[in-house]
Amino acid sequence: MGLNSGVLESAGTEQREAVVTVAGGAIPIRIGRGAARDVKSWWPERWRRALLVTQEGVPIPFDIPDGVAVSYVEKSEGAKCLATIERLASDAIRAGLTRNDGVIAVGGGVVTDVAGFFASVYYRGIELVNIPTSLLGMVDAAIGGKTGVNLAEGKNLLGSFWQPLAVICDLDTLASLPPREWRSGAGEMAKYIFLGAGDLLSHPFDLQVYACARIKAEVVSADERESGTRALLNYGHTLGHAIEGAFLARGEESAISHGEAVAVGMIFASRLARSLGRISAERVEEHLRVLSAFHLSPFFPPELEPEEMLGYLKVDKKNQAGLTFVLDGSAGLEVVAGIEETVVLREIEEFARWSG
Ligand code: GLY
Repeated sequence: MGLNSGVLESAGTEQREAVVTVAGGAIPIRIGRGAARDVKSWWPERWRRALLVTQEGVPIPFDIPDGVAVSYVEKSEGAKCLATIERLASDAIRAGLTRNDGVIAVGGGVVTDVAGFFASVYYRGIELVNIPTSLLGMVDAAIGGKTGVNLAEGKNLLGSFWQPLAVICDLDTLASLPPREWRSGAGEMAKYIFLGAGDLLSHPFDLQVYACARIKAEVVSADERESGTRALLNYGHTLGHAIEGAFLARGEESAISHGEAVAVGMIFASRLARSLGRISAERVEEHLRVLSAFHLSPFFPPELEPEEMLGYLKVDKKNQAGLTFVLDGSAGLEVVAGIEETVVLREIEEFARWSG
């Protein structure tokens, strides 16, 4: 996959659909060029009004119907905070949204995370349609019902599971996606290689997105509330979130995107797995080859200190006894709990030295 909208040319006009099946029903994930254009195809008839949550500059891939109020959230990870939720609630009340109306999230992961969390608490929960406009959103963030905001102590520490009625991935919205955002999506796409996506990059772009969305849909359908296998979707996220948290705390969130941090986190996880005797050095090399094919850097950011990573790792939601990582092994990815902090610190130090 290249790093610009040129890859869109390889996408046909076909519309594809993956489905998340959870206790609350079946959630279609529609993928294709122009997928969101026909509003009637995704707007529930019972809605009279809606709050459209987005950011300045995000392409809206449909004509906004009457009865829709638009709320903009800040274009930064800093928008993922409780103050944003309070503001959206005030906007919704002023717009006259009732329990029978809905929220439309149009944007990347920040938008779908805050709009979803807002939808889950407004009048104790109203309906939501996600229209992701970033590659990261289409292959991950907009699918599966995880919503949330950050705290100073770490990312996504307050949130809810709130499933959208539908996820509409209009590939045309990617035409103006900046290179860093492509890399962010690429980081999450690379993750699916380790979840069984096979030779993803040999397919046309629309099929690549569909393949990733389908794996995510299958995993969420099997374990909506992350009591088991869903945690595997967090491959690379443990150190990835720590890296993002450290940059965010320094006011330098634009230093690295989510997917780029996940990519670095996957290389670290492979090195940790090798040092615990779970995989071979060749398998670590394979991780490096996958990242290279997606044009992603595998290196620990030189600005960060290994010790500061530990503070973030200790508040990771996956932790049970000791630190918990998703690690590769002979049977594939697995959640491994109870890893000693001293072992993890030593490995991060070695990773930082290797990264130069
Ligand atoms: N992004 C990981 C998940 O949705 O479970």
